[in-house]
Amino acid sequence: MYYPDDLVEEVRTKNDIVDVISGYVRLQKKGANHFGLCPFHNEKSPSFSVSGPKQMYYCFGCGAGGNVFTFIMEYENYSFAEAVKLLAERAGVNLPEIEYSEEMKRKESRKSRLLEINKESARYFYYQLRSKRGEAGYRYLAGRGLGEETMKKFGLGFASVSSNDLVQYLRSKEYSDDLIQEAGVASFDERLGLHDKFWNRVMFPIQDTNHRVIGFGGRVMGDGKPKYLNSPETMIFDKSRNLYGLNFARTSRRNRMILCEGYMDVIAMHQAGFTEAVASLGTAFTIGQAGLIGRYVKEVLLAYDSDGAGTNAALRAIGILKEAGLGGKVINMEPYKDPDEFMKNLGPEEFAKRIETAENSFFFELRMLEREYDFKDPESKTKFHREIARKLCGFPEEVERENYLEAVAEKYHIGFENLRKLVASYAAQTGLAVPVKRPRTGIGEKKNVPEENRKNAQKLLITWLTDEPEIYPKIAKYIRAEDFTVELYRKVADKLLEGLSKGNFSPASLISLFSDEEEQREVASLFNTKLEALQTKQEREKALRDILYTVKRNSYEFYSERMGADVEALNQVIAGKKALEELSKTHISLDE
Ligand code: CTP
Ligand code: MN
Repeated sequence: MYYPDDLVEEVRTKNDIVDVISGYVRLQKKGANHFGLCPFHNEKSPSFSVSGPKQMYYCFGCGAGGNVFTFIMEYENYSFAEAVKLLAERAGVNLPEIEYSEEMKRKESRKSRLLEINKESARYFYYQLRSKRGEAGYRYLAGRGLGEETMKKFGLGFASVSSNDLVQYLRSKEYSDDLIQEAGVASFDERLGLHDKFWNRVMFPIQDTNHRVIGFGGRVMGDGKPKYLNSPETMIFDKSRNLYGLNFARTSRRNRMILCEGYMDVIAMHQAGFTEAVASLGTAFTIGQAGLIGRYVKEVLLAYDSDGAGTNAALRAIGILKEAGLGGKVINMEPYKDPDEFMKNLGPEEFAKRIETAENSFFFELRMLEREYDFKDPESKTKFHREIARKLCGFPEEVERENYLEAVAEKYHIGFENLRKLVASYAAQTGLAVPVKRPRTGIGEKKNVPEENRKNAQKLLITWLTDEPEIYPKIAKYIRAEDFTVELYRKVADKLLEGLSKGNFSPASLISLFSDEEEQREVASLFNTKLEALQTKQEREKALRDILYTVKRNSYEFYSERMGADVEALNQVIAGKKALEELSKTHISLDE
């Protein structure tokens, strides 16, 4: 947080959320809330609600939600500081120069210098492409079917043949050699000294979700090697947490994203009107990127190359999407190699049809697997069926598993009961709902199921307390902020419990305490997670007790592991043990 908290809070309270959002969305009052068409996804009937009393917004369709700052950040693609600035101006609040700590200052200024250098470089390449020296580049891009509009939208450029133009240019802007090298646009060696990294290539600037240039991919114009040269990772360029095209795709207002392999694919797709296309950055698709997509949509269509390498990459991506809780389908591009070629030959209408008929990712996996077996050989065929059963065990939810079982049995002409028995015997051997194992991708395995559950319990408890503060007195004696072992949740719980005990808690103000945009979104989601429809009072009482118990138990285990290393942990453990014993015998009544 760079602005003082109370100032941020002043800005927030002086900007009534209904007023502000009315400037962007037509709202209609219904009861205590206002409703309108959600600006963050495409819809025909309003599921976007704005609450005056809560000073929050929430979309029941796509899950977007937050306070007035979040709205501006999402709508305008602004950073938190930019949103504060805009709203301060709107309300006539004077903001001081941002206050940084010394450490922050150094880090922030280094970061912003690196961003500046990347921006200057992008400008430079852009200008080169349109100059005499860039003619070859322009011809190359035009020859690949890109129009002027498209080149402009993606800021395409050209790095010329001479090997030091950019470095000279940046030096003339007074950037130090040190920073120029750190920004990743130049390399150093004994013979050449500091020299341009990219030369004689068409340049693709890579932008973050706020349209800031954070790196480059440069392609040779022809068959040279390497085909692409990419900026190295830097303080501002994390390849596993950004996606090419996401800055546009996030506001495409489709309910899905299309994941491609290459920069050229994304550009061709956008040019053809599929503005929901994104691609990873010359590295394999990661769980971090899946999470990024998950912020905006729940379904991903894979448009990977139709060759062997593309198929393997698609299979890996399917596992990752599953792990991130996203639905996946695979687009068949045959007889073409990739979306770029497809678009050139068959055009957008045909592509739209391929989207309609995209294959469920589970069936895609089976179809690929099938090729390794010989169905004429009973032995081999049996092995295939066993493999299917093993994969079916990966669906933890019974209804889903049964549905797939049925569909697979029909598709592969296996007796339904036989397949079900096979699944049951597999499950008995290995346990159902084994977490989906994905092929190695070089990223450490992060989440496992129980951990997710523990996290969920903490999240649910926070949500419940914000939705129904009146339950707080009933559980106050069991719960402390320290019981929330996820750091972000602990910070929230700290304020939440303090506010609840004083009877003055406002979720909208809490969100502004987090400066990191990702954190803000997660905190906003805490206040908007819908509780499972719990009908009866008994159901609700049981659920509350279960959630509380899970949170306490996790906290107990968490601190038990830390005893010895941490004195405070011992106190937590003792208190935790007592609370657990009590809770296991207690019935929490929700009566007034
Ligand atoms: N890539 C890379 N380095 C290479 C080859 C590929 O970083 N030497 C990355 C790039 O991000 C590229 C993606 O992998 O966009 C997909 O590769 P490919 O399909 O070969 O490239 P396209 O983008 O499709 O480019 P083109 O159509 O020009 O061949
Ligand atoms: Mn290609």
